[in-house]
Amino acid sequence: MTQKSVSGTDLTQVGVIGLGIMGAGIVEVFSAQGFQVVGIAESKLAVDQGKQYLTTSLTRALAKQKLTQLEVDQIQARVTWSEDFSELADCDLIIEAAPESLALKQTIFKQIDEVAKPSAVLATNTSSLSVTEIASATNRPSQVLGFHFFNPAPIQKFVELVATPLTTPEVISDALNVGRKLNKYVAQVADQPGFIVNKLLLVYLNHAVQILDLKKATILDIDSAMRELAGYPMGPLELADLIGLDTCVEILKTIYSDSGNHLHKPAAGLTDLLAGGHKGRKTGSGFYNYSPKPEIPTSPNTALKNEIYLELETAYLGNAIEMEASGYASKADIDNGMKLGCGLPAGPFERIEVIGINEVRDRQAKLAQTSGHSEYAPLPL
Ligand SMILES: NC(=O)c1ccc[n+]([C@@H]2O[C@H](COP(=O)([O-])OP(=O)(O)OC[C@H]3O[C@@H](n4cnc5c(N)ncnc54)[C@H](O)[C@@H]3O)[C@@H](O)[C@H]2O)c1
Repeated sequence: MTQKSVSGTDLTQVGVIGLGIMGAGIVEVFSAQGFQVVGIAESKLAVDQGKQYLTTSLTRALAKQKLTQLEVDQIQARVTWSEDFSELADCDLIIEAAPESLALKQTIFKQIDEVAKPSAVLATNTSSLSVTEIASATNRPSQVLGFHFFNPAPIQKFVELVATPLTTPEVISDALNVGRKLNKYVAQVADQPGFIVNKLLLVYLNHAVQILDLKKATILDIDSAMRELAGYPMGPLELADLIGLDTCVEILKTIYSDSGNHLHKPAAGLTDLLAGGHKGRKTGSGFYNYSPKPEIPTSPNTALKNEIYLELETAYLGNAIEMEASGYASKADIDNGMKLGCGLPAGPFERIEVIGINEVRDRQAKLAQTSGHSEYAPLPL
C-alpha cells in the first residue's frame, strides 16, 4: 500500500503526547513555526500543567521581547489540548514525550498506533531507550523514529533524528525536512544508546563523579575547573543535579550495558546519592543543597583545577574522536550537538583544532598511564 508522504510541505498537524517540560516545549516549537498542534496527556491535571508550562515559557519570551503579544496569541491559538488519544486521528506526525520507561512508551505507542491514520509517522523523544524496541509495539515500525529535542526545546537548536534499521528512507527524509522547518540543526544517527550528545555528555559527567569518588578533588574544585578553565556554562556536578541524578543513572546504565566499558558504569557517588533519595534539583538536593539555591564560589586550588580540567577534557575529546572514527557521527554533527544541544562554547573537534591533534594524543597517552585505565589511550594510528 502506498503511504502518503509526510513531507514538510504536506505536514500541517502534529500531535505531542506527554506535556511535561519536554512535551510542552515541543508543542511550543511546532506551534511557533505555524503547525497545528494537539497536546495530549493522561489526565486533566497533566494537561493543565502542560498548558501552564507553555504559558510560562511564552510569558518569558514576551518579557524578553523575543515574541510579540500577537505571536504569543497565535502560538496559543494553534494548540488544542486533550486527554483523549482519539484526538490524534488527523495528525501527520505524533511525538511522544512521556517519562523515560520502555514499558510505558510501548503501551503509549500501541495506543497511538490504534488511533493514528495509516500514513502518520510516530516519533519518540527518548533520551536513552531503544527506538527499535519502542517501534516494535506498533504495526508500523517502518514509520517510527526518534526525534530527540534538547531542554529547553524552544531554545536549544539541535535535534537528533534517530533512524532504526526498519525506518524507511522516505520517512527519514520527511522527518529531516520537518526538522529543518523548525530552524534546528538536525543530525541523523543510528539507534545506539545515548545517541551523540548524551553518550559524550553522560560519560563526561560520570568521569567527574569518579574523580570525586577517588577523593582527588572536591565538588567545588571540579565544577570551578570546568566553568573557569573550559568555559562551560556549568560544572559537571551542577549539571548532573540539573539533569536529575535518576536520569543520569538511567542513561549511563543503558550506555554501559551496550559498551561494557567499566568507565561507563554509573559511579558510586551517583548511585549512593540516588539511593538516599537525592535526585538533584528536582528533590532539593544532590551534589548541592538547593534550599535555597546555592551561590557556587570558586575553588582557590589553581594547580588542582588545571589537572582536573586536563583530565576531563582529554577523556571527553578522546571519546569524541572514537565516536567519529567508528562512523557513528560526523565531526560537524558532534561539534554542533555539543554546542547547540549542551551550550558548550566549542565543539570537541574545534577544541582539537586549537590544541593540535598530536598534543591531544600525548595527553591521552599520559592520562592512560597516570590513571591506569588503558581505555583513555589514543586510537592506534
Ligand atoms: N528533561 C530533559 O532534560 C530531557 C531532554 C531530552 C529528552 N528528554 C526525554 O523526554 C521525555 C519526557 O521527559 P520530561 O523531562 O519532559 O518528563 P516529565 O516527567 O516532565 O513529563 C512527562 C509527561 O508525560 C505525561 N505522562 C505520563 N504518563 C502518561 C501517559 N500514560 N500518557 C500520556 N502522557 C503521560 C506526564 O503527565 C507529563 O506530562 C523522556 O523520554 C525524557 O528522557 C528529557
